[in-house]
Amino acid sequence: SQGFERNNSMGVNLANDDQLRALAAQVEAVSAGDGGWRAAPLVPGAQASGPLLAVTSPADRRRQVGQWQAADAAIVQRALANAVEAQPAWDATPAASRAAILEHAADLLEQRMPQFIALCTLEAGKTIPDGVAEVREAVDFLRYYAAQARREFAPQPLPGPTGESNALQLGGRGVFVCISPWNFPLAIFAGQVAAALAAGNSVIAKPAEQTNLIGWHAVKLLHEAGVPEAVLQFVPGDGATVGAALTADARVAGVAFTGSTDTARAINRAMAARDAAIGVLIAETGGQNALIADSSALPEQLVKDALASAFTSAGQRCSAARVLFVQEDIADKVIGMLAGAMAELQVGDPALLSTDVGPVIDTDAKCLLDEHATRMQGAAKPIAEATLGPGTEHGTFFAPRAWELQSLSQLTRENFGPALHVIRWKASELDAVVDAINATGYGLTLGIHSRIDETVERIVQRARVGNVYVNRNQIGAVVGVQPFGGQNLSGTGPKAGGPHYLPRFATEKTVTINT
Ligand code: NAD
Ligand code: ALA
Repeated sequence: SQGFERNNSMGVNLANDDQLRALAAQVEAVSAGDGGWRAAPLVPGAQASGPLLAVTSPADRRRQVGQWQAADAAIVQRALANAVEAQPAWDATPAASRAAILEHAADLLEQRMPQFIALCTLEAGKTIPDGVAEVREAVDFLRYYAAQARREFAPQPLPGPTGESNALQLGGRGVFVCISPWNFPLAIFAGQVAAALAAGNSVIAKPAEQTNLIGWHAVKLLHEAGVPEAVLQFVPGDGATVGAALTADARVAGVAFTGSTDTARAINRAMAARDAAIGVLIAETGGQNALIADSSALPEQLVKDALASAFTSAGQRCSAARVLFVQEDIADKVIGMLAGAMAELQVGDPALLSTDVGPVIDTDAKCLLDEHATRMQGAAKPIAEATLGPGTEHGTFFAPRAWELQSLSQLTRENFGPALHVIRWKASELDAVVDAINATGYGLTLGIHSRIDETVERIVQRARVGNVYVNRNQIGAVVGVQPFGGQNLSGTGPKAGGPHYLPRFATEKTVTINT
């Protein structure tokens, strides 16, 4: 355990119907408002003047949830200047005091769980269990990095000869820009920000364009908990303009980014082109995640875990299974059971507890998935298509689908949604299967279903991925329990929710005193 205590949020017991129904009622009460949620830049000394943009619900595009205002170039400049000015005092604040503020924010977030779940449902189309998981993970990140900062950011005495004292001291790097995706609009948003703040950096947080309301409320909560307003600023806007301006600025010491591999590359190029100190880029990106099942797998468990891995959160998880490699001996049985189970999936309103799969985030996401489905026609053998439930016609829904492929090379990019592909393999092909997965260049999650220890060990040894899950689903990494993050095209590391993440946000100073 490396001396790390577990301190995970208890959240809500999703197996307890009474607790779940009570929570759903609270969420509904919050959601029943008039669409009056707001988000705008939070930058001391600057006021947004741009148009108010509508936020509509992915479940029903006729429903306006709220409005947001983007930052313009002047606000970006003001935010950068504020952040530079505010950082030294925050860095000089004892790590234990910074930690206490983050822990206070975690407590507030737990208390306001229904409000944040409601926002996740309204703005991001998340189901209620997904909303619970979002809040829990955000709380966990806040507490985990706070506890680590308290332990590791106090000066650490080092040995030395008589008459000399040595100490290692960690401190903030400067201004950190945190750029997050819409698929974990609270958890990843808060995780990046918490680590950067805990380490003594000032932070400019840029949420995804699709989930500004959630980001704004998270930042307001952190301010309420005690983070000074100039130390944590909220700068919403288009990635290609606002995001690009922030990451290209020479005053920025580091960028924490989660999103697509292409965007990570663009940020890397922008940072490298600056006439500035070499900045730090922490990038967590996409995947082409596989699940390998051999003939010793238990078909019922395999299908249950494949379904959860591929379709939870409408498949909009970087960790989601995209390809199921199933050994030919059990393939027909597994494919038949998969089709049967997919027919039972409830696709519809994410606010209903009966819903398994909600909408995808927006029209662009749906179009990309529709294009993929069209590409699969003729190229792949259809296995199943779930049925869209009532009331889905006004939302951005994509019915979960599965196809059988001949080869992994038929998939040329990450399909970010509820789309699963099945490929059969023969006993002699195990190494070739793992090599084909490695050859995609991605390396995020890998599921293995096998009762043969040697097979499991062989795959684990050969696969170049960040997170391996054996005989269970491959989503929902828990902070401090499954440090999360990939290799190669899937990210730079270090792993979020693991011991090496926070130190990346820090400088190290060794102080030697001749006493
Ligand atoms: P995206 O790359 O389109 O956007 C992510 C963020 O980057 C947004 O805030 C966006 O505004 C910003 N951005 C876009 N262009 C930019 C630029 N040129 N400069 C600076 N910022 C810019 O990704 P997305 O569609 O929001 O998220 C889905 C992707 O995220 C998927 O590929 C998924 O696999 C990945 N993801 C990875 C992890 C992980 O931990 N590895 C977790 C969640 C999501
Ligand atoms: N950390 C998220 C998961 O494991 C992405 O599903």
